[in-house]
Amino acid sequence: MTKTWAPDTWRNKPAKQLPAYKDAEALRRAESELAAMPPLVFAGEARNLKTHLATVSAGQAFLLQGGDCAESFAEFSANKIRDSLRVLLQMAIVMTFAGAVPVVKVGRMAGQFAKPRSDDFETQNGVTLPSYRGDNINGFEFSPAAREPDPQRMLKSYHQSAATLNLLRAFAHGGYADLHRVHKWNLDFVKDSPLGERYEDLATRIDEALDFMAACGLTGDKIPAIRETDFYTSHEALLLPYEQALTRVDSLTGDWYACSAHFLWVGARTHQTDGAQIEFARGIKNPLGLKCGPHMDTSTLMKLIETLNPQNEPGRLTLISRMGHAQVEQKLSPLVRAVKESGWNVVWSCDPMHGNTIKSSSGYKTRRFEHVLEEVRGFFAVHSAEGTHPGGIHLELTGQNVTECTGGAEKIAEENLSDRYHTHCDPRLNANQALELAFLIADELKALRTSRPLNRQDAVAAE
Ligand code: PEP
Ligand code: CO
Repeated sequence: MTKTWAPDTWRNKPAKQLPAYKDAEALRRAESELAAMPPLVFAGEARNLKTHLATVSAGQAFLLQGGDCAESFAEFSANKIRDSLRVLLQMAIVMTFAGAVPVVKVGRMAGQFAKPRSDDFETQNGVTLPSYRGDNINGFEFSPAAREPDPQRMLKSYHQSAATLNLLRAFAHGGYADLHRVHKWNLDFVKDSPLGERYEDLATRIDEALDFMAACGLTGDKIPAIRETDFYTSHEALLLPYEQALTRVDSLTGDWYACSAHFLWVGARTHQTDGAQIEFARGIKNPLGLKCGPHMDTSTLMKLIETLNPQNEPGRLTLISRMGHAQVEQKLSPLVRAVKESGWNVVWSCDPMHGNTIKSSSGYKTRRFEHVLEEVRGFFAVHSAEGTHPGGIHLELTGQNVTECTGGAEKIAEENLSDRYHTHCDPRLNANQALELAFLIADELKALRTSRPLNRQDAVAAE
């Protein structure tokens, strides 16, 4: 690994999963148009998130990260953004109230457009075309024109991300996230389910707590956390021409920040120690994530941590494990132990989605909700056994009433998958399933708090 770093040093490294653009001049034009655009996020915001994540790594808070597997140009609307945020706010309030722990909220939103693929090509009815790689690279439609990588798509992603982020900021700080609205976050199709009722009950208890606090003089005008929230954005750092064009020097510190999102992660297919994505990530000062799959061995992980966080800065690195329900305990334990023994400050987060993808008999890519729950339980069990903090959860979910993962309280069966299967990539939890998972995590966190009481002084920083 060379010591010198610049936003373009990744270009000297082997790069996986990057599209081969046919027209180099068109690519160069798109990159320079992007480089002239304003940043989407500011360095100070990324630093605030890092401070919150440091609190998570110290065991005093919990990270909730979630959103679509892939955002798309077609499924873009204010309602859709609002409903994803709504589910995340609901989940966060369940964990905060029932689990008694501050929750750091990060969306897989406003930039999650590039997808790694296992196969470069897809064959349908004897016709073979390049795989779909996300809307900022090529089109989902199965035609030669749509599947051709088009650099102008990066500009469209940028503008969609800006509009999404604008709305998220308005919701987070403009009254939508006010704790007096917890009842209103309940989506109509969730309201009548057993989960919806459980949530309503919790919301009523929050109302009572707010009334009590108001009577004591603790109101939203004095306590910002009552009337607004911090909400951050994240996506996979995959499409490096896009990321490089939005990487800027922070005028305050002179450091480089990727200004496409607050938090970027490196995926399980692109974290080669000498690869382009790791080279890019090591030089930006944003908080980073690193996906750890079942093939991650301890010595590679140690090398990657050393590369990405040489100063051992708390909050800098979140390790997102995605082992699969059947092997989470066996595969995760040695990694957790090695990190602990080496004294690295990390946030451990659980992605119970990507190790549990299966193909249904009807051909749909799906996940069994029981497998998702099982991996989450296994994750908590490993950290309990190792004496480390189960710091967060990383989910693919939507506020839409989709039928993409089987199981859950509504008992979605394989034959129901076709009813409302809308994802452009991996199957997402719907709002009911997400809420059910939030209650399970809240129970786990509650049990944890009983065995290891929270230091309230430190926890306040994460709120
Ligand atoms: C993802 O998060 O959408 C993804 C592709 O994950 P992974 O890199 O863990 O497979
Ligand atoms: Co996915």
